[in-house]
Amino acid sequence: MSFLYSKSSIEDLKERVNIVDVVGRVVPLKRSGSNFKGRCPFHNEKTPSFVVSEQKQIFTCFGCGATGNVFEFMKRYYNLEYIEAVEKLADEYGITLEKRRRDDRRDRYYEVNRLAAGFFYKAFTEKANRGYSYMKRRGITPPVLKKFGIGYADAEWTSLVDYMNSQGIDNKILIELGLAAETNGRVYDKFRNRVMFPIINTSGKVIGFGGRAISPEDNPKYLNSPENIVFKKKNNLYGLNISRQSVGKDGFIILVEGYMDVIALYQSGVHNVTASLGTALTENQASLIKRYTDSVVLSYDADSAGRNAALRGMDILKNAGCRVRVLHVDDGKDPDEFIKKNGKDAFMKLIDGALPYGDYKLEAAKAGLDLSSNEGRIDYVKRASNIISTMSPVERDIYISKAAKEAGVSESAVRMELSPEGETIAGGSLKPADRGRDHEEKTSDEPDVIMGRDRDLLTLAMRRERYIDTISTMTEIFAMETSARIFEAIERDYREHGELDEHRVMDSLSDSDRGLLREACESTPYYEDEEKVFRDCMRDWKLSALVAEEEKIITMLSLADESDDDEKLKTLMERLKIIQTDIQKERNLG
Ligand code: GTP
Ligand code: MN
Repeated sequence: MSFLYSKSSIEDLKERVNIVDVVGRVVPLKRSGSNFKGRCPFHNEKTPSFVVSEQKQIFTCFGCGATGNVFEFMKRYYNLEYIEAVEKLADEYGITLEKRRRDDRRDRYYEVNRLAAGFFYKAFTEKANRGYSYMKRRGITPPVLKKFGIGYADAEWTSLVDYMNSQGIDNKILIELGLAAETNGRVYDKFRNRVMFPIINTSGKVIGFGGRAISPEDNPKYLNSPENIVFKKKNNLYGLNISRQSVGKDGFIILVEGYMDVIALYQSGVHNVTASLGTALTENQASLIKRYTDSVVLSYDADSAGRNAALRGMDILKNAGCRVRVLHVDDGKDPDEFIKKNGKDAFMKLIDGALPYGDYKLEAAKAGLDLSSNEGRIDYVKRASNIISTMSPVERDIYISKAAKEAGVSESAVRMELSPEGETIAGGSLKPADRGRDHEEKTSDEPDVIMGRDRDLLTLAMRRERYIDTISTMTEIFAMETSARIFEAIERDYREHGELDEHRVMDSLSDSDRGLLREACESTPYYEDEEKVFRDCMRDWKLSALVAEEEKIITMLSLADESDDDEKLKTLMERLKIIQTDIQKERNLG
């Protein structure tokens, strides 16, 4: 894509489309209170827990936690990149997006990287060199070396710099790309005596390099390009430029840890393979994969680092909507070693036996536990139910029974463990599936500024002691932990001294909290009708508590549907109705 669109025209587009229409075209929606409801297109469900809010212009699924604005919906539903989602929507609404010339600098960077790749490739192929001998010794054949554009950076200090300068490329750009470095005014090659793996994105641009040391004493083993405007590790994968073609045919992709794993598997005829770029798998990489397939086999190294990486990677892939299975080679430390020794068929057998998400996680939960002791079994059930609680209702049923068998306890014991109140509905936990993803996300990060209801409440408490008592009885009235902590200090001062002293409160706070409170008080206007502002805060809080309760019941209903417990269902529906009426009432008051 050579153009980006101006931010304002994307904002414009968002203003002009209505998420209810966009979703409504593909998901049957029914009005429900001020929202619309339907069956979630992102997971299997019978009871609608997918809600579209016209006011907020967002969608949310209480079953699977999917949530976002209209662009996010397009992305997920049609499997698009953000910019593609924007384009599709603009196209459908006949809106022309205002184009903005992309930064020319990027093309220049790609061009320099391409030149460098060509230079390394020439050095690798034109005459005998240590890089070529090394790769030959590792058994990689010339056509595969060529396919991946493998090159060689020689042992001299300025080979690449000299070449680039002769091509009119100045040192500044080489340094920015991490191809050269400068010390005491001398500019020298960063990659020396290394096998060079060009990293090429799915548009065919060379975005960076991995350089493998040839001499064992050279450190680090792999030297990678630093992050720069064209090389973003978290957004790219190694080898995907090549494997994307076979992924469709194979129906899944194999994710490995190392560059050499990709190349060795490829050479053995396993082409649907890619690697992350030397860091833990990121969400962006997972959604990049999701563009090509939603089925992933993780094949990480057999060591404990590889096992931990697999556990984390699985969750990230699962959250991105992928089906994940995991395998660890049983002969050799990584897929490269395994396939060289045992061949393609043996590796394909391992893939067939790869463990699905739930099985792998439950298996890993056994680590360090002695299942023949009672303690071990109890701990296992605890761990297992934590894992199971993140699953969909159907998966839950399957894995509850597996975990129960494993621990030698009854299924209902596992179910009890799953629900903190000891109450069960169709084997599900009562915990709403994904409450963490509220739209006003509650974060534990320290904010720059306190705003909204929190700001008004803190200010009112500082100005009028009489509000302190009321506020202190309202649980979770503050949206941010920081505000709650500051309020505690206010309340403490008031209780200890029987009256509030502004300076004493300020003195009792940490520097950053003091700054936040001062800023909050100073930025709050002197309201003419403080009583009304306070009442509004209370109503606002009550409303959000009701909405949270509504969400919870909807989640419970989606779980209850799996059973034929009509009595429970009826009670829940009645409670939902009452709460929705209350919500409506509160809204009308505002
Ligand atoms: P070989 O030893 O050549 O077989 O390497 P490999 O491809 O099997 O890689 P390995 O399993 O050692 O490491 C996995 C990946 O982590 C590599 O492909 C690199 O992307 C990255 N990596 C490994 N070692 C280093 C290092 O020393 N520095 C950096 N930055 N990345 C590394
Ligand atoms: Mn290896």
